[in-house]
Amino acid sequence: MTTPSSTARLLDGKALSAQILDQLQSAVAKHQQQGGAQPGLATVLVGDDPASHIYVRHKRRACENVGIQSFHYPLEAYVGQSQLLELIQQLNEDERVHGILVQLPLPRDVDYVEQDVLAAIAPHKDADGFHPANQGALLQGQKAPIPCTPKGVMRLLAETKMELSGAHAVVVGRSNIVGKPVAMLLLEQNMTVTLCHSRTRDLAAEVRRADVVVAAVGVPELIEGDWIKPGAVVLDVGINRKADGKLVGDVEFYAAAEHAAWITPVPGGVGPMTIAMLLENTVEAAGVPL
Ligand code: GUN
Repeated sequence: MTTPSSTARLLDGKALSAQILDQLQSAVAKHQQQGGAQPGLATVLVGDDPASHIYVRHKRRACENVGIQSFHYPLEAYVGQSQLLELIQQLNEDERVHGILVQLPLPRDVDYVEQDVLAAIAPHKDADGFHPANQGALLQGQKAPIPCTPKGVMRLLAETKMELSGAHAVVVGRSNIVGKPVAMLLLEQNMTVTLCHSRTRDLAAEVRRADVVVAAVGVPELIEGDWIKPGAVVLDVGINRKADGKLVGDVEFYAAAEHAAWITPVPGGVGPMTIAMLLENTVEAAGVPL
């Protein structure tokens, strides 16, 4: 990705995540040299969604590179709730497993609800930070595993060294995985936070006020470049494939870069940070000092 001919600086998630993964690898090696256990991450993948398979493959490969043991459980789409919960229970009790991840979305038309599956994971092994107790802890500003994409967004935002306190953040998208938790983390930094979604009356007007924009709606280039306030930071969580095969975010990248001070590319922005944060959560859950 080339830098656009404008003032925006690129927030390079690929480079930052590589640096974090290097640090994790050293920390894990040192921990084991001192007699500590090798961290382990279990991935549970239900069904045959091609994108989910690719994401999980990337996560497992990253584990290997860092020295985290990867345990993979691919399950048929029609697996029943009891079988799925039994597996999670088994992983909860497995001492080699420090983090458990159930890839979302679960297949449609199953006879169980996502929340029941996530709630079955032992909260201290919840590498994704999706357990209701951990989401509740985040809401209350208590220490808990933080969902990986929101954590990655905050890490990228910190790279800008921008003064966050009192500044205005606009989050577009209200998912449990990204929008809601990232809004809480921005609030924790004393930002004034607006949480927008599909029913927001005048999205352009909201975004125009933002010092920080977090786009997490999954609609290709929904956020127009000229909505971006001069000097704003733009963090684009979206990864959308257009009809021509090109990957784009939720923001019009080149047009937004004409106004923003900092912007994440797609791909190579938030995406790689999600994986780095998953591994960091797993390493932390294994008690490796960081
Ligand atoms: N699906 C999309 N993003 C995520 C994520 O961060 N974790 C899991 N488990 N599933 C996802």
